[in-house]
Amino acid sequence: MENKVVVITGGSSGAGEALAYKFSAEGFNVVIGGTNLERLKNVQSKVKLLGSKCELVVHDVSVENDVKKLIDHTINSFGRLDVLICNAGISYRSVFENANLDVFEKLFRINFFGSIYSVKYSIPHLTKTKGSIIAISSLNGFIATPTRSAYVSSKHAMQGFFDSIRLELKNKNVHVMVASPGYFESNFRKNTLKSDGNKEGNTSRDEKGMMSTEVLVDKIFEGYKKKKRDLIFTFRGKLAYLLKNWFPKLSDRLAYNEILNERESLLKNY
Ligand SMILES: NC(=O)c1ccc[n+]([C@@H]2O[C@H](COP(=O)([O-])OP(=O)(O)OC[C@H]3O[C@@H](n4cnc5c(N)ncnc54)[C@H](OP(=O)(O)O)[C@@H]3O)[C@@H](O)[C@H]2O)c1
Repeated sequence: MENKVVVITGGSSGAGEALAYKFSAEGFNVVIGGTNLERLKNVQSKVKLLGSKCELVVHDVSVENDVKKLIDHTINSFGRLDVLICNAGISYRSVFENANLDVFEKLFRINFFGSIYSVKYSIPHLTKTKGSIIAISSLNGFIATPTRSAYVSSKHAMQGFFDSIRLELKNKNVHVMVASPGYFESNFRKNTLKSDGNKEGNTSRDEKGMMSTEVLVDKIFEGYKKKKRDLIFTFRGKLAYLLKNWFPKLSDRLAYNEILNERESLLKNY
């Protein structure tokens, strides 16, 4: 039987890298996209060691034609697409009053438009295989935190988009799952943008005790196999979801304090 094929945006690092290894270990051929050729090559060679075929595409997910290139390359290489994982994402830390709107827009283009371009070009192929779309969103897809308005709104937009297309694609037997992790170990916080558009370089949080990417991707794969609609990973995440819906004022206070207490919090002088 032909191997199934997964496309992972942001497959060069963090969750995307770990997803490449997990799906490969489960017998998938893998296509990874990202901007950094060296990192993509490193992941590609490890996937090949696991016994899968792996194609890489250097591209910018915020550019529509670049995303078309990723999907075209997948079909030209493997002739099929079974799972699309919209994972590429960045964050931006700033109080909104001081936000650089160009950086705000850049983030939206990567997190939100990167996802919708990926879905747009994948639908005809996923319809043929009755495949799956997995969105890597965040608890910030339904809970707001201060100093992250760009990230929070981009993830809320993703949530709305995927909820909407899930209803449309039901008739085509394409499964849509939104995975909403809390904090997990990766370079995500170091890659978070500042108002000048440069990366933070340091993490704003204590990374110890965060979920590992290995645990994260095991849970994502299990959710995919069970064709789950949503995935909230921890008891804390599930509690946060309940508080947001039933006790929104308490939820606001907890979210505010969470960010107030982080390292070099931007709320301290605001
Ligand atoms: N880490 C957390 O605590 C956390 C929590 C909740 C949700 N998430 C979500 O998890 C997803 C993965 O994040 P991560 O933690 O694994 O972060 P990461 O290690 O920084 O990885 C981000 C990935 O996105 C890719 N990417 C960034 N800009 C891109 C662009 N313009 N075009 C193509 N690819 C681009 C990067 O590729 P290059 O480096 O090659 O550009 C990299 O592979 C994100 O959607 C994030 O919002 C993370």
